[in-house]
Amino acid sequence: MQLIFDSMTGNTRRFACKVAGLTGLEAVALADADPHQPYLLLTYTFGSGAVPDSTASFLGQHGALMRGVVSSGSFHWGDSFGRAGDMIAAQYGVPYVARVNKSGNAADVQAVADWLGAYVSHAAD
Ligand SMILES: Cc1cc2nc3c(=O)[nH]c(=O)nc-3n(C[C@H](O)[C@H](O)[C@H](O)COP(=O)(O)O)c2cc1C
Repeated sequence: MQLIFDSMTGNTRRFACKVAGLTGLEAVALADADPHQPYLLLTYTFGSGAVPDSTASFLGQHGALMRGVVSSGSFHWGDSFGRAGDMIAAQYGVPYVARVNKSGNAADVQAVADWLGAYVSHAAD
């Protein structure tokens, strides 16, 4: 399992790095990623609830290996908060693991680490 992140202003990258620090998994920027193993996608929400174009085109190529999605966003966007994650989860049939405000807090990091731990132990069964 790998962590693959898309980030414009750094919040999602910071969150992915915190998860990597806790889990020991590798966090790779989407622009550098060429996945050959399952991964958790971490992205952000843009333009009133949209999936970033860079994320959408990456998923068009590599969506089959994605096992879950995290979206950073901002509480200020109300109903659109983290909506990119809802759209990706629905389109690809994967769980929306966490909706994170900005670069997230310790509870967000722990929640994602717990999901990854459960996924890895389930995959090993
Ligand atoms: C033009 C613009 C539009 C945004 N639209 C949304 C939105 O619809 N929903 C949301 O939750 N956050 C929205 N945001 C907030 C970003 O998703 C948030 O700051 C996120 O942490 C950015 O991630 P990044 O730093 O990894 O690029 C928007 C930010 C900008 C600059």
